[in-house]
Amino acid sequence: MRVDIISIFPEYFAPLGVSLIGKARDRGILDIRLHQLRDWTHDVHRTVDDTPYGGGPGMVMKPEPWAEAIDAVVASGAAEPGGEAARPRLIVPTPSGRRFTQQVALEYAGEPWLLFAPARYEGIDARVIAEYGESLRADEVSIGDYVLAGGEAAVLVIVEAVARLLPGVLGNAASVTDDSFAPGAMESLLEGPVYTKPPVWRGHEVPPILLSGHHAAIARWRRDQALRRTVRNRPDLAAGLDPGELGEHDREVLDEAWRAVRSEESVESAG
Ligand code: ADE
Repeated sequence: MRVDIISIFPEYFAPLGVSLIGKARDRGILDIRLHQLRDWTHDVHRTVDDTPYGGGPGMVMKPEPWAEAIDAVVASGAAEPGGEAARPRLIVPTPSGRRFTQQVALEYAGEPWLLFAPARYEGIDARVIAEYGESLRADEVSIGDYVLAGGEAAVLVIVEAVARLLPGVLGNAASVTDDSFAPGAMESLLEGPVYTKPPVWRGHEVPPILLSGHHAAIARWRRDQALRRTVRNRPDLAAGLDPGELGEHDREVLDEAWRAVRSEESVESAG
C-alpha cells in the first residue's frame, strides 16, 4: 500500500518509522511518503492560511497550496510504471467528519493508495473537498468526539489501524479477526481480560479456568467476560446486541451484568 501525507509538520510522523509500521515499511508492504505543504506556496513567508470569510476566530487553510500539493502527488502516481490510471483515496481528518471505525479501517486497508491531508487551524477551505470529492473519493473522517490541535495525530491513528490489517504486517493473522469491533467476530463485543505468567503475581491469581486445559470451558468463560465488560464499559454496544444471535447462557450473563450496573447506579444516586 502506498500512503502519502501532506502536512506543515512532516516531522510529526517520525513514529511511522518505529515498531510494526517501521518493519512493514522495511519489508516493502507499506510505502509512506511525506510532503511539506509549504513547498507548494509561492510567497516569501510560505503562507498556508488566511482569515475566514464571514468573520470568526482563527485562520483557514488556503485552497491553492493544497490543490497544488494534491495534484503533484496524484501526478507522481501516474508517472510510475503501470500507474497511469492510479488515483489515491483522499482522507481529510476533521472533528466534523464521519466517524472512523474498524469497519472504515477495513475499507481503507482494501485500497492500494491513500493520501492524507491533515489540517491545522480551523480547517481547510471547503472548496478543496468540493474539488476532489468525486475524483479522489474524498472522505472527511473524525477519530472521536474531541478536538485535537490538528489532524496529524489523527493520521497516525488511522495509518496504524489500517496498516496492521495489511497481509503480512501482524505476526498472527488471527489477532485481526479476534479484535474488538472486528465485523463478524463475536458481534460487537469488547475483548475480555488477558493474562500471562506467573500464575500468582502480588497476590493476584490468574483465573483457574485458564489453567484448566478445558478449551470449551475457556471459550465460554472468555465470552462471559466479553459480555460483562461490554455492558460495563460500552452500554451503547451492549444495548445494540441482537438477542437472536445470542444463546440462552449469553442472555443470562447479560441480564446479570445489566442488573449489576443498575444496582451500582442506584447506590450512587442514593449516596
Ligand atoms: N482534527 C482535530 N480533531 C480531530 C478529530 N477528533 N478527528 C480527526 N481529525 C481531527
